[in-house]
Amino acid sequence: MPLVSTRQLLDEAAKGGYGVGAFNVNDMEQIQAIMEAAKETNSPVIIQASRGARAFAQDNYLFHLILAANELYPEIPIAMHLDHGNSFETCVSAIKLGYSSVMMDGSLKEDGKTPASFEENVAITKKVVDYAHERGVAVEGEIGVLGGIEDGHGAGGSGLDHVTDPDQAVEFAEKTGVDSLAIAIGTSHGAYKFTKKPDGSVLKMDLLIAIHKRLPKTHLVMHGSSSVPKDLQDIINQYGGKLKETWGVPVEEIQLGIKNGVRKINVDTDNRLAITGAIRKVFAESPEKFDPRDYMKPARAAMQKVVAQRMVQFGQAGHAGDYKAISIADMAKGYKDGSLSTRPLVAAK
Ligand code: 13P
Repeated sequence: MPLVSTRQLLDEAAKGGYGVGAFNVNDMEQIQAIMEAAKETNSPVIIQASRGARAFAQDNYLFHLILAANELYPEIPIAMHLDHGNSFETCVSAIKLGYSSVMMDGSLKEDGKTPASFEENVAITKKVVDYAHERGVAVEGEIGVLGGIEDGHGAGGSGLDHVTDPDQAVEFAEKTGVDSLAIAIGTSHGAYKFTKKPDGSVLKMDLLIAIHKRLPKTHLVMHGSSSVPKDLQDIINQYGGKLKETWGVPVEEIQLGIKNGVRKINVDTDNRLAITGAIRKVFAESPEKFDPRDYMKPARAAMQKVVAQRMVQFGQAGHAGDYKAISIADMAKGYKDGSLSTRPLVAAK
């Protein structure tokens, strides 16, 4: 089947009441790990690439790897998504290449570091929405600013510095017409999110629930959603790593989010941890080895295990065969004739 729009994938997830993991990739082995996990669990998938990933792998390599996945697993709906686009031009370049959805992260200025004003965010996101929808491509926006820095992108600081204001979320969704909305509820990108198991004082699930009540039809996106499991930290440290003690977002909190409108869950760090732990183990236990396949195979298998686990936990497992892909050209018609209207249904306060 052709690449699927994230919009279709998330509409289906909303119908089925489940969430879909969006896993970041930089190379072939990560794509293979995701696809094997999807096959194992019969899951639709969102594969996403940041600007850092596109620069690392080069656009054409990365995009053709996704097309290879699409050829090899025709039964699995695959969406190819740009993570944290920083400008109109970045989003346009992904759309021209063939990505089926883009994120315009207008919560930050083009430098990817400085928080933007609400008005700037609305203006740039709306510009991307107009361009993308005309071409059938879905758009994710962000309101509020996440903590931490990933691939050089982020305001840094704590996840609590710029949490989303529900009134602004409603206004933003109405004014931009985004297909999905990333919100800031205290999470950060990277491994160091929380200094202890998070409670409601640092992970604002009540805020998420309040936003969902106001925007019941809007697909919410949770960024910075790695759980940073202790066992993956331990493997790294057991074999010479030096991770400091840290906590991520507990899976049960993500599942609470899924019950309250979260449809897309971004995960990168957990996979990085799994890969690094597996490689460190081979290096420590078999220092005589030098064939990259000797450590890339266990690394790929370790990532597959994490991804498959998340697919089951998020509820997307078993749903790969539920629907046929709507072509991106037909999505464009749907945006034009209003059947894919993104005007949110706003509930009374
Ligand atoms: P993690 O660092 O928690 O995996 O978050 C990834 C992410 O949100 C990518 O946009």
